[in-house]
Amino acid sequence: MTAPLRAPGGFPVVGIIGGGQLARMCAGPAAELGLTLSVLAEAADSSAALVIPSAPVGAHSDVEAVLAFARECDVVTFDHEHVPADVLAALADAGVPMHPTPEALVFAQDKLAMRERLTALGIPCPRWTEVHTTAEVTVFGDDVGWPVVAKTPRGGYDGKGVRVVGAADELTDWLERASAEGSSLLLEEMVGFTREIAVLLARSPSGQAAAWPVVETVQTDGICTEVIAPAPGIDPDLAARATEAGLRVAGELGVTGVLAVEMFELPDGGFVVNELAMRPHNSGHWSMDGAVTGQFEQHLRAVLDLPLGSPRPRHAWTVMGNILGGEHPELYPAYRHVMARDPEVKAHLYGKGVRRGRKIGHVNVSGDSVADLRRRARHAADYIEGAVTE
Ligand SMILES: Nc1ncnc2c1ncn2[C@@H]1O[C@H](COP(=O)(O)OP(=O)(O)OP(=O)(O)O)[C@@H](O)[C@H]1O
Ligand SMILES: [Mg+2]
Repeated sequence: MTAPLRAPGGFPVVGIIGGGQLARMCAGPAAELGLTLSVLAEAADSSAALVIPSAPVGAHSDVEAVLAFARECDVVTFDHEHVPADVLAALADAGVPMHPTPEALVFAQDKLAMRERLTALGIPCPRWTEVHTTAEVTVFGDDVGWPVVAKTPRGGYDGKGVRVVGAADELTDWLERASAEGSSLLLEEMVGFTREIAVLLARSPSGQAAAWPVVETVQTDGICTEVIAPAPGIDPDLAARATEAGLRVAGELGVTGVLAVEMFELPDGGFVVNELAMRPHNSGHWSMDGAVTGQFEQHLRAVLDLPLGSPRPRHAWTVMGNILGGEHPELYPAYRHVMARDPEVKAHLYGKGVRRGRKIGHVNVSGDSVADLRRRARHAADYIEGAVTE
């Protein structure tokens, strides 16, 4: 494996396992800070590999490949939560500094572990249980009310691994698969939330933490499509309690780097936690244009134990619109129209091939009117993905 070229001046090399868009979007801030990135990429044309010169190809599940990669880095962090426990253990045994640490990361990798730990901490969660059999599903559903939400504890993303279940026999296939794998399923009550919100913060190994304002996230078919920062009309007391809960989770779990805490806002003014992500997160994409310090820069600062930057918003409102793959493989021609129509819109494309529903980019736009920003962000995102032509 070729070593990354080190910059003079004592600047460290940050290694990222996984070459998706989150690794890719660290490249801008890293270049500005004079840091070197190296990414262990799935393929030579992975999103991050297209813009980061040191991008050896290797699987995140291949212990030898990951160890060889990590040896050339001063600190290792992650683009996703799918690195298996045995690989993390091998890295720890080899003395590789990792942020987040494997001890913290497990609570973002395994939704059952997360539910157990948050419940023990007294953090509000939906009612939940672990199930192995349809009989257990029936007992839980009859108790909390149907439908219930079933989740595979590991490996889910963008709503894959989440199923709304109206009767126990709708889960037979998943239960059989789980049993064959020696695992189980997480069941949750179906929360009648008023909206979804997220707390995003960064915490450094020294224990410094900085939280961005609480945002509203909009999911369509299980995929995040829009984020509004800050969450419009949010009760300041709820925002404070949610942020406090996020900071407490970060401290208790020893999270280092960016932590996203996805939450459901409840009709009674309270909240419950949906799940955790320990890396830059879709709910924080607005911050790269809308805050003094964006989440990708902050993640780098945090994993290097540098003082954190200010998370203060630069504008009253920032709206992020996700660009999902549509029918049109050609994206670049849309730039001419989108950029001419609205010079305040910032487009961020990930260098990914178009597949229906795949996250391929996002737009940010900031200003004073939420309704106007939402319209403009949606139009730009729809135009780039080819859903509108006018
Ligand atoms: N208990 C629940 N009650 C109601 N809706 C839920 C519940 N759990 C999940 N959802 C809905 O499904 C979406 C996806 O769930 P979750 O975040 O657990 O899955 P994921 O695939 O890990 O998501 P991500 O895209 O964030 O990785 C949530 O954003 C929410 O809209
Ligand atoms: Mg989620």
